[in-house]
Amino acid sequence: MSTEIRFGVIGLGLMGREFASAAARWIHLSGLDVRPVLVAACDTNEKAFDWFRASVPTLQFTTTNYQELLARPEVDAIYCAVPHNLHAEVYCDIIQAGKHLLGEKPFGIDLAANEKINDTIAAHPKVFVRCSSELPFYPGGIAIIRSLLDDDFGEFVEVESGLLHSSDLNPEKAINWKRMIEFNGEYGCMGDLGMHALHVPLRFGCFPRRVQAQLTKIVKERPDGKGRMVPCRTWDNATIFSEVETAGGHCFPITLHTKRIAPGETNTWFLKVMGTRRSMAFSTKYPRTLQVMEYKPGGVQAWQHIDLGYQSAYPTITGAIFEFGFTDSILQMWAAFCDELVHGRSGMHQPFYCVTPEEAHQSHLIFTEALRSHAAWGGLK
Ligand SMILES: NC(=O)c1ccc[n+]([C@@H]2O[C@H](COP(=O)([O-])OP(=O)(O)OC[C@H]3O[C@@H](n4cnc5c(N)ncnc54)[C@H](O)[C@@H]3O)[C@@H](O)[C@H]2O)c1
Repeated sequence: MSTEIRFGVIGLGLMGREFASAAARWIHLSGLDVRPVLVAACDTNEKAFDWFRASVPTLQFTTTNYQELLARPEVDAIYCAVPHNLHAEVYCDIIQAGKHLLGEKPFGIDLAANEKINDTIAAHPKVFVRCSSELPFYPGGIAIIRSLLDDDFGEFVEVESGLLHSSDLNPEKAINWKRMIEFNGEYGCMGDLGMHALHVPLRFGCFPRRVQAQLTKIVKERPDGKGRMVPCRTWDNATIFSEVETAGGHCFPITLHTKRIAPGETNTWFLKVMGTRRSMAFSTKYPRTLQVMEYKPGGVQAWQHIDLGYQSAYPTITGAIFEFGFTDSILQMWAAFCDELVHGRSGMHQPFYCVTPEEAHQSHLIFTEALRSHAAWGGLK
């Protein structure tokens, strides 16, 4: 018998539909004794209900007012995917209503909003809250995570991680809320993409002691979709240079790339961990290929390129030789959320869990320092 978690979704846009699809594809997972059932959906735009009503047979209730959804006793947990300016208000209301929450990143439009969310979590310790970040669930990400858990790398030499997009290279792309400071926030591309780059480094204690960011605005105005050009004031690209110090006093650099204008990259998540004993690299651009270099003193330095296939964190019905994709990573992240909610950290079927509120808070400290460091960056005299 599997345990059912009855979910409501708030925000039925791009990501709200991804969640509904993952819940519908739950039969893909094998051997997991917990499953989400989508019973309620909320969006201020009523047109969004059509797809949900037609596609989700378990749906019992739709509303344009999320407070009505939170008042429903049959809803155990919420997936919330709304613009960043609403995170603090909506997430706090969800938590105060006693509903478990998987909230989308960045978990607040800025540091103050994030702290408000975390204070509310602290006041409601029985509510389980996690932040969304699915890309490390690719088999290549999971392989690196397993090696990090086994401490295979020796002394760290360098870590590099990022999420790269490119559709903003097109100056004719119309502006939307993700390119407006009032809805997306001062962080710009960092708030949108940064949690993806930080999930694995932060999980393994790589909170930097120093941060210096290079931020760029490339396309400064965009069509508003109504025939006019309007300012586009959010940061397009950010490279965050940082330094981590281990408990043993060893310092190494971590470079984080969050870019909306990385020519040619549609949704490339990558992670490269280099160490004195082992180095590993993975990019979703080559979703099957894991690069590994083992090294013994005086030995050959040769990278292996390994075809991973579908070696997921949670077992599925898919054959091990087949390819893994974005929608699979969403399904795996959902499995981790439901698994941890029902079984607790120590009872999970596998060890990699979703981003915690503490890790989301660390990401805000880094983005806030990135903004400050960029503004304060001195010039050569
Ligand atoms: N994990 C990922 O890979 C990923 C990818 C894209 C976006 N996101 C995150 O997901 C969140 C939403 O992004 P999206 O791309 O789905 O945006 P979207 O614009 O496609 O959808 C947002 C939805 O929220 C609705 N909404 C706005 N105000 C509301 C309110 N008060 N009550 C209920 N619904 C309301 C909008 O009508 C819209 O349908 C953001 O936090 C974003 O950063 C995550």
